[in-house]
Amino acid sequence: MTAPAKRVSHLLSTQDLSAEEAILVLDTAEELARLSDRPIKKLPTLRGRTVVNLFFEDSTRTRISFETAAKRLSADVINFSAKGSSVSKGESLKDTALTLEAMGADAVVVRHWASGGAYRLAHAGWIRGAVINAGDGTHEHPTQALLDAYTLRRRLGSLTGRRVAIVGDVLHSRVARSNVHLLATLGAQVTLVGPPTLLPLGVESWPCESSYELDPVLPKCDAVMMLRVQRERMNEAFFPTEREYSRRYGLQAGRMAALPEHAVVMHPGPMNRGLEISAEVADSVRSTVTEQVANGVSVRMAVLYLLLGGSEPAFGKEEEAAGR
Ligand code: NCD
Repeated sequence: MTAPAKRVSHLLSTQDLSAEEAILVLDTAEELARLSDRPIKKLPTLRGRTVVNLFFEDSTRTRISFETAAKRLSADVINFSAKGSSVSKGESLKDTALTLEAMGADAVVVRHWASGGAYRLAHAGWIRGAVINAGDGTHEHPTQALLDAYTLRRRLGSLTGRRVAIVGDVLHSRVARSNVHLLATLGAQVTLVGPPTLLPLGVESWPCESSYELDPVLPKCDAVMMLRVQRERMNEAFFPTEREYSRRYGLQAGRMAALPEHAVVMHPGPMNRGLEISAEVADSVRSTVTEQVANGVSVRMAVLYLLLGGSEPAFGKEEEAAGR
């Protein structure tokens, strides 16, 4: 990310972000969120710049969110869905990248099925634009973690010393990986909860704790983040039955009652209602699910702004220009 003193031209992982850089994104998003309350939501900041959404995997909210964010900053947006390509992975990505370069893409938002796909695109020398990782395999999804941190900060204030449980299919979750690193950087204490089969090997070296039991963790949480059971990434049985999983690791109203009164319930979506989260909990006042989606636009605007825009935020001036 762009820090006041240095410019890094990609956002690939939350591990690359310092606390100052992460806070700069959150503060910038806060400024930009004020726009959403106004009749004219657009800023001219990225007028004439091209943002390409390059999605090799399915997505609803992330792609729409990036598209909305780019359009609110007046960028030209090209949506490129590469799903179904029959070319082998490396070649396909290279050919596509060369095409994007020829079209003059200033930023490429990439979702790829391979862990490391975004790194490859950023560092292979095929394109000059900024690369933003919108999810690479089971590796990272940094803008999701940033929007989660933003949501938490709005609900709870500073994240220092806050306790966050991340529950469920951690093994397949790029959201969990990005969140563990970002939350640790921001001073929160994270506990990963799930059955042994769904906690990754080597989790002891991550900057967090882990537990196979949910019930003892809940009373100490300021936030609990439920993860989707990613059936599409499971080619073997990771738990006996869905009923059993839901009984041990699902968040239902009864279990939610064990949370402190101020605690919030998060989910990155899409949800398996009735599996990892009950409909009642998903729709409860403690749930931040739709807030997370709305906050995603502001956070992605901030990321695009900081990677592509000027070095000095000048929102006031630009709002005036937009309002003309
Ligand atoms: C997540 C993803 O794609 O990694 N979804 C999202 O971006 N909102 C989580 C998931 O698919 O479960």
